[in-house]
Amino acid sequence: MSAAADEPTPFVYDEVAYPAPLTPAQTPDRMRAVGLMYGYRTVECATASVLEIGCGDGLNLVGIAALYPQSRMVGFDLSHAAIERGRAAVVEAGLTNVDLHVGNILDYPRDGEKFDYIACHGVYSWVPEHVRAPLLDLIAAKLAPGGIAYVSYDCLPAAAPKREINRFLVERTRHIDHTDTRIWEAIKLLGMITGNQAEGSRLKAQLDQLAEDLPNFDLNYFFHDWLADFYDPVSVFGFSKAAAAHGLKVAGDAGLTDFVTETLGEKMQDYLKDETDQAKRADLLDYARGVQMFRRTLLIRADAPPPPATDPINELTFEFLGEVERGEDDKGAFAKFTRGEAFLVARSAGDIGVLQALEDVSPNELTAAEIIRRTGLPEAEAIASLKKTVAIGLALPRATPQPYVVVPGERPLAGPLVRTMMASGNWTVTLRHVKFMVEVEPTRVFLTLCDGTRTRAELAAEMSKRFDSEVGVEKIEAAIADLGPKRVFTA
Ligand SMILES: C[S@@+](CC[C@H](N)C(=O)[O-])C[C@H]1O[C@@H](n2cnc3c(N)ncnc32)[C@H](O)[C@@H]1O
Repeated sequence: MSAAADEPTPFVYDEVAYPAPLTPAQTPDRMRAVGLMYGYRTVECATASVLEIGCGDGLNLVGIAALYPQSRMVGFDLSHAAIERGRAAVVEAGLTNVDLHVGNILDYPRDGEKFDYIACHGVYSWVPEHVRAPLLDLIAAKLAPGGIAYVSYDCLPAAAPKREINRFLVERTRHIDHTDTRIWEAIKLLGMITGNQAEGSRLKAQLDQLAEDLPNFDLNYFFHDWLADFYDPVSVFGFSKAAAAHGLKVAGDAGLTDFVTETLGEKMQDYLKDETDQAKRADLLDYARGVQMFRRTLLIRADAPPPPATDPINELTFEFLGEVERGEDDKGAFAKFTRGEAFLVARSAGDIGVLQALEDVSPNELTAAEIIRRTGLPEAEAIASLKKTVAIGLALPRATPQPYVVVPGERPLAGPLVRTMMASGNWTVTLRHVKFMVEVEPTRVFLTLCDGTRTRAELAAEMSKRFDSEVGVEKIEAAIADLGPKRVFTA
């Protein structure tokens, strides 16, 4: 939906709440980590300033603010309702370093404070050109020298069928005033066209994927994403050109998806070798693979100094995601690391060593130096494998040292945000920025009691008192064993 001064009222995001997910890739921790992997050094997260443009209810900023009390978070959004929800969460979380306000990209003040990190997630492809250019202009105006910005958007060519499906659905359902009825009419239409695709249909892959995804979608998300009145994906090349017009340049991809090129044919790999410009390289890959529908591009100021020659990856910490399975086939022994649809059949000492080292300590994390020490790999080989595992989605890079403990000490201490939010609601944000729902009341109470003053025996006694039934220490141990891997305890 466009957001011009003549924005229809009520604004579509006021009418239908967007079910904001937490997006760890837009946290300063990840932006700094990925920036370092591309050779750019941004400021430390602990004291960083962060601006989020179109922040929705600002819950990402709430989670970050709680992790770094000395940081400063500012977020704005055109939706009054979203900002109201966010402000309530800020009060509930007892935070004083988050400022959420209603604002419009078009006339948001360009002067004044600059920010070390800027995030704009899920906005660019859903606003028209007369908002997109000011959005990039705003980023350029507010990005501190040496800062990094994250902008996500649906990208071409893979999102082209989605654009056509969006146009079709919007046109066929535009006359329906009632949102739920409109959503269900769109779903009915999707069912009909999916079931009738001809042999060799060009739309089929996208429609089949959507049919598979739909049952897992929040319907409000489906409405804003697939039924948006305005939707226009852009190629990464087109995006980078638009950004360049505002003095910004592409530093890399927040998901590092461009590091893995092994699956490409030899000729393509050769062709790609000569392309050093990050945006052109990403664009080539998007056309070569044809599958990447969504991009999370990192931008820096065009006048930023070039990356240093040394590889600063050694400053990072890595987290393993996924599962491992070992086996042997006609090519020899392998270890298959899997996470959802992402997988790597690792055969080289580098890939196996790195992933195994991470898996061994999971849910704890390892620094690159520790991985090199444990695997005995030459640094360059370990680093190449680390980049690959991150790009595939089997590991996450972190710029801040592990802030949680899996097994808490004598007097268990849950993170401050966890304790505060558990006292009043059924969800919180973990110490690694993941939304954590707790439906069971005793667990919520237990987490609020873990304030570092009680031993396990004292926690058992307090829980027994609160719930008027005997809670033994073994139950407390079991709860800690269950909650520890969720990253809610700190030292
Ligand atoms: C898809 S939602 C994404 C929200 C949030 N960034 C997230 O990822 O959860 C798009 C957001 O952009 C906001 N938006 C759209 N046009 C805007 C404008 N001109 N100025 C500020 N916010 C705008 C909407 O209100 C909405 O909250």
